[in-house]
Amino acid sequence: MDKTKNELSRRDAIIGAGKIATGAAILSVGASGLLTPAKVKAASFPWGYKKLDLQEVGDIAYETWYKSFCCQAVVSGILKPLQKKIGEPYASLPLDAFKWGHGGAVGWGTLCGSMTGAGIATGFIAGHEGEKILNDVIAWYADTELPIYKPAHPKSHFKNVNRSDSPLCHVSVGKWMNKEGVKFFSPQRKERCARISADVAMRTAKLLNDWKDGTYVPAHGSNVKEHGITTQLNCMECHGDDVPEPKM
Ligand code: HEC
Repeated sequence: MDKTKNELSRRDAIIGAGKIATGAAILSVGASGLLTPAKVKAASFPWGYKKLDLQEVGDIAYETWYKSFCCQAVVSGILKPLQKKIGEPYASLPLDAFKWGHGGAVGWGTLCGSMTGAGIATGFIAGHEGEKILNDVIAWYADTELPIYKPAHPKSHFKNVNRSDSPLCHVSVGKWMNKEGVKFFSPQRKERCARISADVAMRTAKLLNDWKDGTYVPAHGSNVKEHGITTQLNCMECHGDDVPEPKM
């Protein structure tokens, strides 16, 4: 039987049942929303999580990079599978709204957009608790030779991986461009950033999977509490030998 017809006849049956019931019963059917247009219930925040397949997360991020760059790549790698697995409210979220994080916020070289994307995703998924996961993802990014991800069908090739020691787009991509000897608008640089987006999406999803299992233990402490100022940890790269002591 055709599904719409089936639903219609079920609805008719319910309405029919209402008609022959007592006045009180008709009122209660009305209050349950069956006879009135369905009201959209506001989603409770945060929106929650179902464990993800890390390879799928990485592949979506890598492919999305070539359309919308790093921030949207990571948001999509994590939230696209949840749009299918959980449905609403994820399903209605327009992922194009998160493209702006590319190039460390429209080319300003601040936080690498892959991690802006990770923060957007963990925010929807876990709210305040997501901050711990983002904190660990950033510490890992600065401390790890990237990229690690190997695409099944690479769009380009390059030689070098690099540890950025910094979450800043400008610093991270600049050090790598120096090592690789390529310009920003080169196919190698694009491929490197696409793969790093896959890495960040997969790392974030791995920690989220652990969190869902109840085995996630936050690793990185608070930069502000430890150093008395919002900061990155490569102090000497900017301050030289004369790193100022913050007034605590
Ligand atoms: C990306 C570059 C960069 C990094 C990394 C960095 N700083 Fe700074 N920091 C600056 C700049 C630029 C200023 C502005 C004041 C200046 O020019 O000294 C500043 C200001 C400060 C100040 C306040 C001004 C003062 O002289 O008291 C403190 C304290 C400080 N930094 C400590 C640190 C410490 C500690 C670290 C590492 C944990 C660190 N910074 C990492 C660039 C950086």
